[in-house]
Amino acid sequence: MQHATIEKSIPIMGLLTLVMVSIGGLVEITPLFFIDSTIEKVQGMRPYTPLELKGRDIYLREGCYNCHSQMIRPFRDEKERYGHYSLAAESMYDHPFQWGSKRTGPDLARVGGKYSNMWHQQHMRDPRAVVPESVMPTYGWLEKTPLNYADVGDRMSALSKVGVPYTSDMIANAKADLEAQANANGDSSKLLSRYGKKVPVDDFDGQPNQITELDALVAYLQMLGTLVDFKSYQAQSR
Ligand code: HEC
Repeated sequence: MQHATIEKSIPIMGLLTLVMVSIGGLVEITPLFFIDSTIEKVQGMRPYTPLELKGRDIYLREGCYNCHSQMIRPFRDEKERYGHYSLAAESMYDHPFQWGSKRTGPDLARVGGKYSNMWHQQHMRDPRAVVPESVMPTYGWLEKTPLNYADVGDRMSALSKVGVPYTSDMIANAKADLEAQANANGDSSKLLSRYGKKVPVDDFDGQPNQITELDALVAYLQMLGTLVDFKSYQAQSR
């Protein structure tokens, strides 16, 4: 009886629909106001070093994300192949994030430390030299192209505006830190004091006398997935 009245009156039906939808919306949205962050805090996350940041720019420029994801899903087959599933915190300094949407090649979220620098050098020069059945393109020019890092400080200050915690000290010393990380025999103490002792310092492209685009790209790849220590990490129960 009452139903029939409601269903025949557009104003009453509209009003009641609005009330119902509002309740649904509030139930979804209100809890978000009472949690500090949707990103779980984890130990070990740090902003990328200047060299890694330039390597990431090359990763974007070359479109590596068209064939590689950086997001391990919480499924058993993925965890057995790639390691612990990706955490939101692991991409919190990525603008934009590199989760990707297609895997012609494997996921790269934890590729850091899986191979030597020399493996990466050969693989970028000619993927088929190390993986005969590979369909990955060659990137031989990277080791021949000197890295242009004149703008690295500006890149960092732009990122600091969107929340990446680069300090003014880091930005002012960006070029020196970049050079220190690519020099296996230099003094890297200042770099390590700014970014942490775990930062690998090496001649990433195998050519000690110059800093090339390959130095930056390999430094970036070797860092991927190594920042969070999963031996001490315990997922929070909610
Ligand atoms: C056309 C697709 C394609 C593009 C573009 C591509 N890759 Fe790959 N990549 C592959 C395939 C397929 C493999 C697996 C075979 C191999 O190791 O070469 C692979 C493997 C890799 C591996 C080894 C991963 C592992 O766990 O064994 C790395 C590292 C890598 N690619 C980095 C890159 C980088 C960096 C770029 C951009 C400069 C790039 N790839 C662009 C297809 C691609």
